[in-house]
Amino acid sequence: MVRGILVAFVVAVVAVAIYVVLEPIPQGVDSPWTVKLASITIMISDYGMMALPTGINDWLDERSRADSRASEPRVPYRDAVFDRVPVRIFADEPVGGETDKRPAIVFFHGGGFISCSVDVHHPLTAMLARELNVVVVSVDYLLAPKYPFPAAIDDCTAATVWFLKHLSDFNVDPARVAIMGDSSGGNLAAAAAQRLTFDPEYRDLPTPKLQVMIYPCLQAFDFHTPSYQQYGDYNTLILKRRYMVMAWNKYLLGNKGDFTEAMMINNHTSAAAKSSPLVKKCLSHDLIPDEFKKSNYRVPSTDFGDEDIYKEIKEVLLDPNYAPLMREDLEGLPETYILTAEYDILRDDGIMYAKRLEKAGVPVTWKHYKKGFHALFGDFFPTDVGKQSINDFLQFAREKL
Ligand SMILES: *[C@@H]1O[C@H](CO)[C@@H](O)[C@H](O)[C@H]1NC(C)=O
Repeated sequence: MVRGILVAFVVAVVAVAIYVVLEPIPQGVDSPWTVKLASITIMISDYGMMALPTGINDWLDERSRADSRASEPRVPYRDAVFDRVPVRIFADEPVGGETDKRPAIVFFHGGGFISCSVDVHHPLTAMLARELNVVVVSVDYLLAPKYPFPAAIDDCTAATVWFLKHLSDFNVDPARVAIMGDSSGGNLAAAAAQRLTFDPEYRDLPTPKLQVMIYPCLQAFDFHTPSYQQYGDYNTLILKRRYMVMAWNKYLLGNKGDFTEAMMINNHTSAAAKSSPLVKKCLSHDLIPDEFKKSNYRVPSTDFGDEDIYKEIKEVLLDPNYAPLMREDLEGLPETYILTAEYDILRDDGIMYAKRLEKAGVPVTWKHYKKGFHALFGDFFPTDVGKQSINDFLQFAREKL
């Protein structure tokens, strides 16, 4: 029996090792072995979670959460509730008894709208508080599929609005608040910034000084942008098309429907919608500089689609609260920092938004990492390009926030 388990274990380890060696990864990505191993670890833990009994899963999960919370012992934090929404606040007792009002960052964690937490992102958010000497509010918004759209963006907006109304309780300067998020959190940051800017309901609140989007996902209309075309099928780049499509689908519909197969081939929209003026304006591949269109790039055809699916989902699909790139007029949004990574299917979502914001007269700092991959920002998977991206952002924030 013991021998059998041992043999199975050795076989599994060898199989994983062979897979890691053989599975292709594009030339040029920073620390390819780290990125490969990270990708496969995510894959194994996804399947492992399905295979292991719930009790063991919960125990492992709580252990890793506790490790995360202990990661920055010098940064004080406490959990609170802002207008029904749980949040974690870092460093709201000013270090060294300063009395000047300080800046703040409201942070929305990534995880495809379906995973991660303020615990998983604890090291990153605590580090921002420590390095920038700012108050950080990390929002524990509701996750899909149990709570589909608009639960997440409603939570993020509600928590931010509550905070903006109570800044003096935290000794925060109303002119120096940033909204920030990574990946799906970048989507929520963009959407929340749009709401705060354009919804008359929030006219009397302080306007965010900065919006910061770290490799955000910003639209679920076109899963064949040049970056999706180039990197969508790799198993070794953290994110692949099938995962992102599944995540968007769950955020859209919860457990009520599954259009992932249609989405995989852009068949979840109609032919007419694909060539509509709105889509041509908001999602034109012309916004993406030619240097990003590699030899395998094809202009996707627009003469096909599924009317029935589109009719069912179009209201949400075109809603900027779900997909901030679908908003036609971006004029008046806060100064913007956008990070994109070359080896990332979401690269072009970020590029299109950066270009459109620039056209709309918004000051934009667009940082593109030529050796970068999805999830490089933070110490999730330590690499040189990841460290560089943190340093670049810290420098920007020290100047601008
Ligand atoms: C898209 O969906 C329509 C309607 O279900 C179907 O007839 C068509 O074959 C699909 N297109 C592709 C490329 O699969």
